[in-house]
Amino acid sequence: MSELSFENVSVRFGTGRRALTAVDGVDLTVPSGSVVGLVGESGSGKSSLARAAVGLHPVSGGRILVDGAPLGRDGRVGGRRPLQMVFQDPYSSLDPRMTIGASIAETLPRDAVRGSAARRDEVARLLGLVDVGAERAHMYPGQLSGGQRQRVALARALAGRPDVVIADEITSALDVSIQGTVLNLVRDLQRRLRLSMLFITHDLAVVRYVSDHIAVMYLGRIVEFGPAEQVLRDPRHPYTRELLAAARPGGSAAGPTGASALPAVVADAEPADPHHPPTGCRFHPRCPVGPLVHADRTVCRERDPAAAGHPHRTACHFVTVPPAPPHDPVCHGLAEPPAAATATG
Ligand SMILES: Nc1ncnc2c1ncn2[C@@H]1O[C@H](COP(=O)(O)OP(=O)(O)OP(=O)(O)O)[C@@H](O)[C@H]1O
Ligand code: SF4
Ligand SMILES: [Mg+2]
Repeated sequence: MSELSFENVSVRFGTGRRALTAVDGVDLTVPSGSVVGLVGESGSGKSSLARAAVGLHPVSGGRILVDGAPLGRDGRVGGRRPLQMVFQDPYSSLDPRMTIGASIAETLPRDAVRGSAARRDEVARLLGLVDVGAERAHMYPGQLSGGQRQRVALARALAGRPDVVIADEITSALDVSIQGTVLNLVRDLQRRLRLSMLFITHDLAVVRYVSDHIAVMYLGRIVEFGPAEQVLRDPRHPYTRELLAAARPGGSAAGPTGASALPAVVADAEPADPHHPPTGCRFHPRCPVGPLVHADRTVCRERDPAAAGHPHRTACHFVTVPPAPPHDPVCHGLAEPPAAATATG
């Protein structure tokens, strides 16, 4: 059990006019032994954050720490990798030319499991842990079903004896009928092994099922973080509310007639260009309670409502329920006249 922390982490791609900051000053903690579900629309930076943590993307600013120890550029600390990642596509971690037993054995720490018999036994134990028969160790990934491949990818990650597991959309490529069993397995393993996990998904039903906490990402920033049931029951950021509305049966932030419940000026807004993120609050050109709808909310265009320091934190100038304590810098709206601090959405 270990704590993973991102401190003001940025990930930038490219240079000059084509430069893009995929992750911009993210502060996020995965508390020891818990699951943080990271959600957000496509392109919000979820995978970039995860890949930076395991050393697959360079971190251009900030620090990533495991139990307070900063990770090196290659994702290692003290010669070992405390984080292991499971990808959407199992072939990202399983070499199709290697047997699954060899793939798992490759990740076993050399100093902890010595000798070929011990390594074989450990591979068998890990395969058992993910409900794949040890007799399949000699098979190749292409001979397994998608669900079995993903189980093997999980076993391979566990073989590295990680302090924290990062799972990036691990069920989204699977048939719906298999997704449930893989999720059950992940939840069961997480509890049995008391793993700390960063669980990335765009599926709110999935995040509801596995997460203790939820972090919501929009255009490179965390806009809301809190206990899972609170965020789902009482979403405070307008973007989180939009995500939840879109996930309801019938989809999209639409009213009972099927017409968009969003004001036309918001519904017609262009998606933000990540190369040129909006000033102030990045969500302001799409926000149903922001300056497009309330002309006096100019602060949304001007000042960045960075989220910080509160168990259920929200990066919005006009977050209302419950009011943030006076010392909490989350809500600049408290510094505004009381009328301005009343959200209508
Ligand atoms: N290697 C790369 N080079 C340049 N830009 C990249 C690279 N990887 C990601 N990006 C860009 O960074 C932004 C964030 O992408 P990322 O893949 O992290 O989003 P995501 O939230 O994981 O999306 P999805 O839900 O589709 O997986 C996007 O604008 C994407 O085009
Ligand atoms: S800060 Fe303003 S634009 Fe941003 S989410 Fe809050 S109300 Fe909307
Ligand atoms: Mg992704």
